[in-house]
Order: sequence, then structure tokens, then C-alpha cells
Amino acid sequence: MTLSRRTGLSWALLGRRRTSGPSQVRTRPTRYLSSSAPPPPGSWSSHLSRLPRQDLYRLSVTDPDRFWASAAADRLRWIEPFQRVQDCDLDRGRIRWFLGGKLNVSVNCLDIHVDAHPDRVALIWERDEPGTEVKVSYRELLDMTCRLANTLKTHGIQKGDRVAIYMPVSPLAVAAMLACARIGAVHTVVFAGFSSEALAGRIQDAQCRAVVTCNQAVRGGRLIQLKATVDAAVKSCPSVQHVFVSQRTEQPPVMGKLDVPLEEVMSSQPTVCPPEPLDSEDLLFLLYTSGSTGKPKGIVHTQAGYLLYASITHQLVFDHRDGDVFGCMADIGWITGHSYVVYGPLCNGATTVLFESTPVYPHPGRYWETVERLRINQFYAAPTALRLLLTHGDGWVRKYDRSSLRTLASVGEPINQEAWHWFHSVVGERRCPLVDTWWQTETGGVCIAPRPAEPGAPIIPAMAMRPFFGIQPVLMGQKGEALTGNSVGGPLCLRQPWPGMARSIYGDHQRFIDSYFRPYPGHYFTGDGAFRSEDGFYQITGRMDDVINVSGHRLGTAEIEDALDEHPAVPESAVIGTPHEIKGEVPFAFVVLKEDLSDDPSTVLQQLRQLVSTKIAKYAVPEHFLVVKRLPKTRSGKIMRRILRKVAMETGEDLGDVSTLDDPSVLQEILEVYQQHRKQRQE
Ligand code: PRX
Repeated sequence: MTLSRRTGLSWALLGRRRTSGPSQVRTRPTRYLSSSAPPPPGSWSSHLSRLPRQDLYRLSVTDPDRFWASAAADRLRWIEPFQRVQDCDLDRGRIRWFLGGKLNVSVNCLDIHVDAHPDRVALIWERDEPGTEVKVSYRELLDMTCRLANTLKTHGIQKGDRVAIYMPVSPLAVAAMLACARIGAVHTVVFAGFSSEALAGRIQDAQCRAVVTCNQAVRGGRLIQLKATVDAAVKSCPSVQHVFVSQRTEQPPVMGKLDVPLEEVMSSQPTVCPPEPLDSEDLLFLLYTSGSTGKPKGIVHTQAGYLLYASITHQLVFDHRDGDVFGCMADIGWITGHSYVVYGPLCNGATTVLFESTPVYPHPGRYWETVERLRINQFYAAPTALRLLLTHGDGWVRKYDRSSLRTLASVGEPINQEAWHWFHSVVGERRCPLVDTWWQTETGGVCIAPRPAEPGAPIIPAMAMRPFFGIQPVLMGQKGEALTGNSVGGPLCLRQPWPGMARSIYGDHQRFIDSYFRPYPGHYFTGDGAFRSEDGFYQITGRMDDVINVSGHRLGTAEIEDALDEHPAVPESAVIGTPHEIKGEVPFAFVVLKEDLSDDPSTVLQQLRQLVSTKIAKYAVPEHFLVVKRLPKTRSGKIMRRILRKVAMETGEDLGDVSTLDDPSVLQEILEVYQQHRKQRQE
């Protein structure tokens, strides 16, 4: 009896859903030069696709080269075949996949589908005003991408140049990402909520040659002056030679000498742009994210491995099928937007939704009205939005037809039981699997999630559960040893490399090694803690470092401290995260003010709020400030944030081990001020 008959399974696991037409034809046949490389696809890869999930998982971790080689050969169109599957050494932070291969990501996301079904809708731009959505076919998106790529080229942008994209989701923003990919430029999308200083810092670090932006953004019925923010940022960025300005609203922008009117210039460019053949390991994009030290890090992702991982996870974790409408609500400024609004869905020929608005505009039924109107099949959102929506009651959900939904998914932060059950039973009427997906900017795609799994396998509420193919989670003990058995918890590491993982921190490879590979030699350290249940399933317990998660946005407390400490009245500060009902976590700042302060402390606090907003972003502004005389420190001068966390969590007298404190009397001082602060909050 064949495996598929025995199990009733026939998964198209490794091959992307095939479409007829010339896209089937690889530019050159795949050749494997390494002796350990697998035979060409179609032989054992089609056999593999029928294996039960556990067998396939076992194979993916015991023989990752065979697994990933087959997936890469089946799912991607190569210009030159790869010759070696991987060359990785985690201790040195050396991660290389599909060596010797050449391909173009934009060809895999566009041309392949244009060959097969040019009129299929690639993007549905769900604009801020409901009912004004714009559909863009694969043919149109390819034309737009080529015109934009030619525009970049005629302005001197070349392979390897960095281009910052500072705009919210829109077809042009997606085309800008793909245009960079077409010519081999490296994009760095900066979330359009970041301040001009934060934008400038990223542009400077990446030494971007150009910025792509729009005159204004529209969100929740409000206009946001993006161009003005870019103008302020580029003043301190001498590397920038051009600012391409698209026209989102009627308002004409004030154009300076760097500015290029994007649509106008694009309209005279040809709709054909030959794709640059790129090495598997050429840079695809940088994405800045927060770490536990002050400066955000430019996470480096490369071409083939990233695309393969985004596309295979998109198909299997969310059960995406041909013809589905995929609704990921994330902004393209975050990794979720990169992998599951743009690269994963487009590589799989999906119709992907670009959501420009907010979950509560013009009313708290917006998500579900959008699901009804666009007939969304997979709906992917952040727990913070769900928590907000559930406070508005079930009526807003029930009002709209959600029968198109097949998979629900959440990401970005731990989803609490209440939000999980509401999403599952009210939104999904208990008929849609709800997958809590755990991953990070650095992992490129989903690493732990309840799906894929055998049909009918139960999903445990609010648990990420199962490692994806090729992912081997390891929990570490006190002495850095891998914990065996179940019902154990500890720092979460991943044992072996996978194609989607980050390759470096831009311009600082040593920091890459130190952050991710030094803590547990031979392993990638995630920064998160996790628990392995009695049944061997994983539950993420949260960050173990000084990174917090505010409304699903990752923030380093050190970044906020750096901003606060710039105020002349603040000699030092310490920021921690405290729980918040809707946002998950919010920053709580303990600040020391100079003794000879002439201003009123409340004026200084107001200035501090402003400072964080202009240095980072509005969402980074601490929700709470506590002015203290001193901070708790060890004898070597290290701030004991653990104690501050306990104070803010109101754990009573139990502040844990305080024996290493330099001066224990500081605790009483802080507790007293905290009590006053609490009283004032309640009044
Ligand atoms: O702490 C984890 C949390 O978000 C962090 C990664 O943030 P970022 O790189 O911005 O990527 C977010 C979107 C992938 C992780 O280290 N996180 C992400 N997903 C989950 C999560 N925490 C708990 N459960 C999740 N499903």
C-alpha cells in the first residue's frame, strides 16, 4: 500500500502549485554538481510530497540538504542551478544556501505568473475608505515594477545600492520593493510611523542612495505628512541622491532639488526591464529591528533562501490554495508585511490584500466588512488588534458574512486565551483552524505554528505548538545545556540553520555573532523563552532580553533610554515593559532628574514624551513615568531592571534576590514613589 493511501494524505508540500504555461520551463535544467546533492525533482520529491507530516518533518531535520534542495528546485525558477545546498557554520555566523545558484526574485513573484495567468489579481489595495479598493493584476504589477525599475536605473541606481522605502502599503510600494529586486538593489523599508530622526538613522546606517516615498499617507481618515518627514531626514543623509515622490493624495508636494515625481517619470519608462541574474546569497533587503542595545540593527536577508522559506511557509502554515484571497493585515514596514503581504503570497501566485486602514476605521467592524467584501480566505492579524476589537462586542463581527474564511492566524506577540477564543469562536465560528505563528524578523518566516499538521490534529489554544520543516527548537537549562524531555521551559534556541534565516547585521557581522550565536554555541538564540508541554508542544513565554513588544511592535528599552538621556535634565533613566490590556506591553520609564532643576518636573516629562516621539516614534512614548532619586544598581554599576519590573508589576514585597544591590535602601525610596504614583493614577 502506498503511503498516501495508507494515510489518506496527498500534500503538495514541496512543489509550489504548478500552473501551466511557459513558467514551467526552467531557464536551464537543474544540475547538481555536489555528490551529496539529490536527484532532480520529480523523482523522490514527488514521493516525498506524499509522506505523512511526521515523516516529512523527520526527514527535514535528519537530511535537510535533500529536503531543501528538492523544495528549492521545485518551487523556484532558477537562471543558473545551485551547486551546493548549504554552507553553514553557526558559531561563525556563516549562513549560505543554494550556493552557485542564480535567480531573480521578481521573476519568481511576477513573470512566472504573468506567463501562466496574466489577468489574475495580484494585489487588492484595500484603501483607507471602505469600498474604494483597487485591484492590480499580475500583468499590471509586472509593468509597474519594470517602469519603476527602469526609473531607478536611469537615476543611477545599480546592483547592490541601498534604497529606502518610506511609505505605507500600496501597489507602488510593493512595486518599489520588487523593482529593487529586479535590478539587484537592496531595499530597506522603514515603517512610515517612524520619526524623521529614526528614518535618518536607518538611511545613514545603510548608506542609501535613494528614498522612495509619497506626498502624504492616509490612515484612519487622517493625513500624515510623509514627504515632510523625509525632507527633514535627508538633510542629514548625504548619501541620498534622489527622493522619488509618489502622489497618494491630490495635495501637490513641495519639490526640492533631490525630488523626482515618481508617477510622471515612470510613465515615460518602458514596461520591460530585463531581470538581473542574482546570486542566491546577494542581498535582497535590510530590515531594521530593535535589539537589546540602543542602535536598531539592519537585519540582512538574501535572495533564494528567504524567498523559498517565505513561499513554503505561506502555503503550508496558512493552507493557502490556488485562487485564494490572502489577507495579512500587517504593514510592509515590518517583516510580516515582507514575508506574508509581499514575497510569500506573490511567489505562490496568490491574490494578496494590502490593508491601508486601521481595524477601527470607520468603525470596529472594518476588518469583517473587508473580509465580506473581498471574500478573504486567510486572515492574519496581530493579537493587539483583536484585543481592541473584542472590547467593542460581537455585534460588529456578526453583522458581516465571514463564510469565505478558512484559516485564521495571529502573530507578533503572545495571544492571550480570551483573544484566542474570541477570534476562534466569534470570528471563525469554530470552523476555521486558528494558527498562532511564532517567528521573528531574523527568522524570515514562520518557525513554530500549529500547522501544517495531519488533518484533524487538534490545535491547542494560544500555543504555537509545532516546529516547521527544518526547524529544531531546543530549550536551554541554567548551565547552557539542552533540556531533554517534556514539561520544561527555558531560553528558546534553534539547532540547525534553515534557508530563511538572517545572514548578518548590516555593517556589523560581529554583533550578529554576539547576539545570536555566542550565547549558546552551535545554536541560534532567539531572545525568547518557551515552554515544552507534556505533549511536546511549544508555548512562547516572551522575551528574555531588554526587548519589549508594544502593540506587536518590537522596541528596545535601550533605544528609549538613549532618547530620554539626551534631555539635559536627565542624567539617567531605565525603561522596562509592563503589561497592558490592549497593547500587550507598554514602556514604563524610571527617570532621574537633575537636583538643581529649574523647570517644573511635569514640564520636563512633557518634553521627554516629545523627545521619544521625535527620536523614535509615537508608539515608543512611555505610558508611565516615575521620577526617582536613584536607580537600583549592582556594585559594578549595572542597573537592575529586574527589580524595577517587579516594582511595576506590583509583586508586593517579593523583589527577588536583591543581595547584589549596591545600596538596598534605594528600594524603599522607589517603592514609596511608586505608591504615590499609583494613588495619583487612581484618582
Ligand atoms: O518575542 C517574540 C514576538 O515577537 C518577536 C519578534 O518580533 P519581530 O522581529 O518584530 O517580528 C514580529 C513578527 C514576526 C519575537 O521574538 N513574537 C512573534 N510572534 C509571536 C511572538 N511572541 C509570542 N507568540 C507569537 N506568536
